[in-house]
Amino acid sequence: MNMIKKMLVAPAAVLAIWAASAHAATDDAIAARLKPVGEVCVQGEECKGIEVAASAAGGGAKTPDDIIAGHCGACHSTGVLGAPKIGDTAAWKKRADEQGGIDGLLAKAITGINAMPPKGTCGDCSDDELKATIEKMSGL
Ligand code: HEC
Repeated sequence: MNMIKKMLVAPAAVLAIWAASAHAATDDAIAARLKPVGEVCVQGEECKGIEVAASAAGGGAKTPDDIIAGHCGACHSTGVLGAPKIGDTAAWKKRADEQGGIDGLLAKAITGINAMPPKGTCGDCSDDELKATIEKMSGL
């Protein structure tokens, strides 16, 4: 076999192995694996994949990191629709001053404000959990 042919055959063999193992899994198994990632959280509905992740992480109390990962970060990490960004303390401070401190921000987070949905979509977050999350995102 000459050099060029060897170079073409090796990747083809790898591809063949990859294709065979991909076919070994049933469509159901693939669907089950993709589901938690593909499931979209809609306001007012439970986010099943995330609930499982949160309860697997220890059950009971949710940490600010869990809540940010499961809810707030979707908008606040990039500043979607004008949401104050995580870590942009100046932006949060300005809002806190307008609302009378962290408790004022908490009140707005609970009721929602403009494009910010009530409780930031975390319907089962307690006030304390939301407050800790706001403190974490704002750095205040
Ligand atoms: C769907 C996108 C979205 C999600 C999810 C979201 N927020 Fe927001 N949030 C916004 C937007 C947009 C604003 C700015 C609203 C405005 O002032 O017009 C905002 C503003 C806020 C404010 C400032 C309110 C004020 O009075 O200025 C707080 C506090 C806040 N969000 C907390 C949270 C928390 C906590 C979570 C997660 C539990 C969360 N948000 C999830 C979009 C979101």
